[in-house]
Amino acid sequence: MKLLLKAVTIASAIVATPALADGWTLVPEGSHLAYGTIKKDTVGEVNSFTNLSGHVSPDGKAEIQIDLSSVETNIDIRNERMIEYVFRKAGTAELTATFDMAEVSGLGVGETTTVDTEAALSLAGTDVAFEAEMFVVRLSESSVMVSTNDMVFISTEDAGVNAGVDKLLELASLPGITRTVPVTARLIFNMDGEQAAVSSTAPVAVAAVEGDIKAGKKVFRKCSACHKLEQDRHTVGPSLHGIIGATAGQADGFRYSAQLQESGIVWTADTLTAFLSDPRGTIPGNKMQFPGLKKDEDITNLIAYLQAETQG
Ligand code: HEC
Repeated sequence: MKLLLKAVTIASAIVATPALADGWTLVPEGSHLAYGTIKKDTVGEVNSFTNLSGHVSPDGKAEIQIDLSSVETNIDIRNERMIEYVFRKAGTAELTATFDMAEVSGLGVGETTTVDTEAALSLAGTDVAFEAEMFVVRLSESSVMVSTNDMVFISTEDAGVNAGVDKLLELASLPGITRTVPVTARLIFNMDGEQAAVSSTAPVAVAAVEGDIKAGKKVFRKCSACHKLEQDRHTVGPSLHGIIGATAGQADGFRYSAQLQESGIVWTADTLTAFLSDPRGTIPGNKMQFPGLKKDEDITNLIAYLQAETQG
């Protein structure tokens, strides 16, 4: 057997699972952590761990738990020996790393980047620090894949598993096995619920911020006779507090027309642009007595102003 493991693995640590307020959670299906071994200088083999879990906090601290008992060497007796002698029944190994989340969160869907990370593996009481270059792909609004860009090498000595490796060699009557272990990982993370909701409104914010807020403030003079921005302050028209992202006709305490209230419209940069350029044509029968804004630029600037003033 092989043993190999070294590196990576092992850990022990047991670290408490972090509270998942938000951040990214590892998706076990599709994630893969493996290491390679070469015995007698010639025979290469790959072992992997089938049970991984983990979380990345919003500030980029990743904590991945590797269930050492889930090691898969493709030979049962080998798995058992590995768990007993190399991992010393440690249970869990903990892998920690820090990522620059600005780089990861800033990726558009389908975009990729490479990030350098400082990582540490804690296995059965021994910590090994190493650097890794990771390749990151934004799979969707709410998921990313992070994989090793190259192999990462971990020494069995640094990982504190040399004695266990010796024992495996003896049991298997093997003359030798390499003491440096290449490790590769592919980890899939899903954004936690709250964050996902925020990100789905992000395109609105981005579109709105393109406008000129100061110019938008001037345009708002055309609205201010009927609309205030303070929450719940309804006059001729409803308060426009928090209007971007809100569903039409739902502010408490304002009597809307049925046409607006039942329109089902959600106010985004796009729907506001349509409505403000032609209020009556967009929602026939609504009671806003306003002919509409002629210039697209005015509307873009106005939305930037509304966004800046009321969404904060
Ligand atoms: C003469 C008064 C008046 C002016 C001027 C006016 N509005 Fe309105 N607005 C209203 C009224 C009244 C309603 C409610 C319409 C209804 O219930 O059918 C309304 C509704 C709205 C809504 C929907 C609010 C919601 O809660 O769904 C938005 C958005 C809006 N106005 C934006 C604007 C903007 C931006 C301007 C300036 C470019 C503007 N309005 C100018 C009177 C006005």
